[in-house]
Amino acid sequence: MQLLILPPMPPVNHHLPDSAIRRKFQQRLLRWYARHQRDLPWRKTSDPYKILVSEVMLQQTQVDRVIPKYKEFLRKYPTLEGLANASVNDVEAIWRPLGYNIRPVRLHTIAREAVDRHSGKVPDSLEELQAFKGIGRYTAGAVMSFAFRKDVPILDTNVKRLLQRIFLGPMNRNGSKPVKHLWDLSAALIPKGKGYDFNQAMMDFGAIICTARKPNCRICPMRPLCISYPRDKETKPCPKPRRPSR
Ligand code: ADE
Repeated sequence: MQLLILPPMPPVNHHLPDSAIRRKFQQRLLRWYARHQRDLPWRKTSDPYKILVSEVMLQQTQVDRVIPKYKEFLRKYPTLEGLANASVNDVEAIWRPLGYNIRPVRLHTIAREAVDRHSGKVPDSLEELQAFKGIGRYTAGAVMSFAFRKDVPILDTNVKRLLQRIFLGPMNRNGSKPVKHLWDLSAALIPKGKGYDFNQAMMDFGAIICTARKPNCRICPMRPLCISYPRDKETKPCPKPRRPSR
């Protein structure tokens, strides 16, 4: 029998960063956000229903494609009650260009259940939000943070990637991230009372600077803190040295 000997896995750092590093990260992120934040329509409302609509649309669709549909949807269904009273076929039809899937059906059911069980309001607790089909921990956190201004963590693909890169370094060989640790990290980093801006800032930072394929390390304010930076610098962003010509 042949024994397959694998090289050791890179260690996973399960410690949370100390308060000085956390503070630096917060300051750098919020300073960057103050200058570079995106102008997005769901940041101009505090209506929990509208924020819920945006977050359900954003679950599987890019921001650029969501913006016009978000506006159209809210012109047609400006209130939770209006959505609850609509026919599910009409809701599916307006949603269809975003990808024909279960999201509009679930959102419609959420509206009906909120009218029946929560006096027509989007509930303001993580537990109640997550009790709806179609609302997972991420969407519940986003609604708590963006609609109810609570310091609640979020963790979507963008946020996972940037926290992994900056604080944990290269992923495990199978690409799996220690998700529980990333949630703890996301929670530990929120500056008290600033969860709204901080979480929106993480979204923008992941979408603009710490991108999946070609991170913008050259202009990244997190370079001094980022565990991955030297490695990325040596491997990805630098072009291969050319052979000297003879
Ligand atoms: N993706 C999910 N939620 C978002 C938000 N509030 N802003 C930008 N992108 C998002």
